[in-house]
Amino acid sequence: MNAKVCVLAGPASKDLAKSVSKILGVALIDVELKIFPDGESKIKIDGDVDGKLAVIVQSTYPPVDAHLMQSLLMVSKAKKMGASVCATIPYLAYARQDKEFLKGEAVSMELVGSLFSASGAKNVITVDVHSQMALSYFKLQAYNVSAVPLLANYFKSQKLFQPLAVSPDTGGSARAKEFAKVIGTSSIALPKVRNKKTGEVKIDPDARELKAAIGRDVILIDDMISTGGSIVKATEVLVKVGCKKVFVACTHPLLLNGALDKIIDAGASEVVGTNTVPSQVSKVDVAPAICDQVSKL
Ligand code: R5P
Repeated sequence: MNAKVCVLAGPASKDLAKSVSKILGVALIDVELKIFPDGESKIKIDGDVDGKLAVIVQSTYPPVDAHLMQSLLMVSKAKKMGASVCATIPYLAYARQDKEFLKGEAVSMELVGSLFSASGAKNVITVDVHSQMALSYFKLQAYNVSAVPLLANYFKSQKLFQPLAVSPDTGGSARAKEFAKVIGTSSIALPKVRNKKTGEVKIDPDARELKAAIGRDVILIDDMISTGGSIVKATEVLVKVGCKKVFVACTHPLLLNGALDKIIDAGASEVVGTNTVPSQVSKVDVAPAICDQVSKL
């Protein structure tokens, strides 16, 4: 056991923190959380972090703002208690608002990045962050690790017919390529268009890219499933074009507003996510990817 490193179990990610501490072979420190009637969070670090590298594991899935505030409170307190702090934020909320898409919009990610520096974090680790742009707002050493090989390994052990990795949008084409490489196949990216005002998603059912999916098992791979709108549309067009089975893999299964049922109703056979967001589809543990990065700090 490395006495110079400890893992702090953030209230949002206790099981993942346990897995990280087990792989690293270091002490797991519990963090107590109290939510006051007005919604304020109070945290208490139950252990000695003085002089240590404190790896704080806390995802910022919903309730996003509460989990974010708890993360900042833990970073700030651990730093004051004498630790060098690595804020591990497996699912980083606000990363999608990394630009002023429409005039007058606040660039939320810019503020979130500066809050972590101001709280005293030395490093940040994210898992499959939405964009490199989002990561650039941390004015400290920020690392992103990929859960894609871990997700691909899950599918590698399944019997699939001429599998094809599919990204629902062109922005995710590198992710689909990375996935395809691990399972030893090819990939495509669909031409998804999202209305910036309404959030509505469209994929042209006649897109030429879809031809590659005919008669094959496909695995849709995305960084996150939020409302499921993107994956539902992609599943529908893939079923319509005549692919065999549709499987869905994502790093962050937020699965809001009945997303899982909608995806299954659209024709998907299985949805697989990781434990960056605890859910009924969180079958893949991202701790090995996080630990690889922590051991390089
Ligand atoms: C978009 O660029 C992302 O990669 C995801 O495809 C998207 O955020 C998922 O959101 P939803 O499930 O609401 O379509």
